[in-house]
Amino acid sequence: MAMDFQGRVAIVTGAGGGLGRLHALALARRGAKVVVNDLGGAVDGSGGSATAAQQVVDEIRAAGGEAIANAASVTDFEAVQAMVKQAITAWGRVDILVNNAGILRDKSFAKMDMADFRLVVDVHLMGAANCCKAVWPYMQEQNYGRIVMTTSSTGLYGNFGQANYGAAKLAQVGLMQTLAIEGAKHNIRVNALAPTAATRMTAGLLPEPVLEALKPEAVVPAMLVLAHESAPTRTIVCAGAGGFEAAHITMTEGIYLGMGETVPEELAARLAEVTASEGQQVPASGAVQGQVEVGKAMKAHGH
Ligand SMILES: NC(=O)c1ccc[n+]([C@@H]2O[C@H](COP(=O)([O-])OP(=O)(O)OC[C@H]3O[C@@H](n4cnc5c(N)ncnc54)[C@H](O)[C@@H]3O)[C@@H](O)[C@H]2O)c1
Repeated sequence: MAMDFQGRVAIVTGAGGGLGRLHALALARRGAKVVVNDLGGAVDGSGGSATAAQQVVDEIRAAGGEAIANAASVTDFEAVQAMVKQAITAWGRVDILVNNAGILRDKSFAKMDMADFRLVVDVHLMGAANCCKAVWPYMQEQNYGRIVMTTSSTGLYGNFGQANYGAAKLAQVGLMQTLAIEGAKHNIRVNALAPTAATRMTAGLLPEPVLEALKPEAVVPAMLVLAHESAPTRTIVCAGAGGFEAAHITMTEGIYLGMGETVPEELAARLAEVTASEGQQVPASGAVQGQVEVGKAMKAHGH
């Protein structure tokens, strides 16, 4: 059966180009009404123009779809709230939010300016938080919502020169974890997408045949799955070049050492047992860590 978005209203941020544009086009092609948001700035976040978003809206309309443009910066909470109002006024609901807007300010940490660190966190983390906060009451009220964060392999695993970006990208996973838990009773599902794609963001970084393989179109199916009615929740899906993987934040079984003077030495000696992956789990919530630890202590004390 075709994956249908008929009757759904979606907001895609940073949809004036790159992956966001393709996300918006795909959602519209499958029946969603789309708010195409984009500040229209350069890859480092400087400048801005409303035409980027408008051009994508024109493309959607030319193909028979419904869309409206919005040029808010996701960093501006009032402007983001106005964007959500725009969707509500036009179509009466907001079903899907794809947090895709992003910038880069790459430099090794030694050379990185703290202003560039703060700006990258502001766009990726606060931008996503602003958009989530603005749609949240409507999604709660509707008892329906699908939110897709855009994380990155840099956030999950690190990359040279991207300390600011990596921190901001993994922060979106942190936001996902709790929003998925809080949203569950209102049928709000929250997931994260870690794309790999040849866009202006990765221009000049990779050789031509690799860029050819990394067509951004290959990422879109993962977004559609995470934004659909049938979406999972609290899932991190990686996508690029037609490959799909998942990233898990696991907790190992570990050991019990109790408390005592020599615990530092014992822990150092048995660290390989602590980090060993056999028997690891993906905790259902943060509370599980404490439960596991208290459980070990109780068992050691014969309870
Ligand atoms: N391309 C990749 O390999 C890759 C890898 C991992 C993550 N990502 C993430 O995917 C997303 C899309 O990136 P892309 O590769 O398509 O790059 P891109 O630069 O083409 O797209 C980002 C878009 O966000 C917009 N934007 C920037 N700041 C904004 C703001 N404050 N408010 C609204 N819009 C804003 C830009 O104008 C741009 O159109 C980003 O979040 C990026 O970090 C991309």
